[in-house]
Amino acid sequence: MAETKAVRMRLDKLLALFGEGTRSGIRDIVRAGRVTVNGSIARDAGMQVLAGADSVCLDGRALDYKPVRHVMLHKPQGVLTAARDKKQPTVMDLLPPMYAAMGCMPAGRLDKDTEGLLVITSDGQLAHRIISPKKEVGKVYLAHVDGPLGDADIAAFAAGLHIDDADGEFDAAPAALEILSSSKEKSEARVRVTEGKYHQVKRMFASRGVQVIYLKRLQIGALALDERLAPGQWRELEDDEVALLEMEAL
Ligand code: URA
Repeated sequence: MAETKAVRMRLDKLLALFGEGTRSGIRDIVRAGRVTVNGSIARDAGMQVLAGADSVCLDGRALDYKPVRHVMLHKPQGVLTAARDKKQPTVMDLLPPMYAAMGCMPAGRLDKDTEGLLVITSDGQLAHRIISPKKEVGKVYLAHVDGPLGDADIAAFAAGLHIDDADGEFDAAPAALEILSSSKEKSEARVRVTEGKYHQVKRMFASRGVQVIYLKRLQIGALALDERLAPGQWRELEDDEVALLEMEAL
């Protein structure tokens, strides 16, 4: 495990980072004797603690402080990739409030109807490096489309498609297309792209005359979606998984 650097801060700030309510709410929690620091009941919400070194518990539950958090989410369909939205559920609503309080944000965007691997991190630089097309971090998708695919499509993806549609015009970087099955009505393929333009994968297939009917992101760089996570489930990244992403996005 990576060593956690201890950080001195007020107890109420630490509790706020864990999404435990407003300042006055937190004061009440402390006054009620629900918080212990190194085994002793805390009485002053303004007391200094060493987050990452002191043992801070709320109702007996340890608040395990880490300065940086990285989450792997199996994004389900029907949820927006956004920090918040007034009307619709977002990926941040699937995590405990602590993650938003610690500044976690989605690293990139999946469409509302796309499912699969999404990294949510409080490390803005890592997020930027994952997203930046300059870093050429590959993203692998499983796509189902409503028509046949063949060698001409593999060649066109590899050469770099020219996209010109209602959303605009651009030259897509070369992409690897692997056809898993193909028939007149439906095909399944894996595609690896290094960019993340608006509806990129859907538009790439549309430029070849087929519509994407199902899209799932399987991989970002060398980081694969943990298939034990059902849609909507998440877990923190292991240290070696973070290292994989960091190496990839150097
Ligand atoms: N490409 C798309 O078209 N949609 C996504 O959600 C991701 C990549």
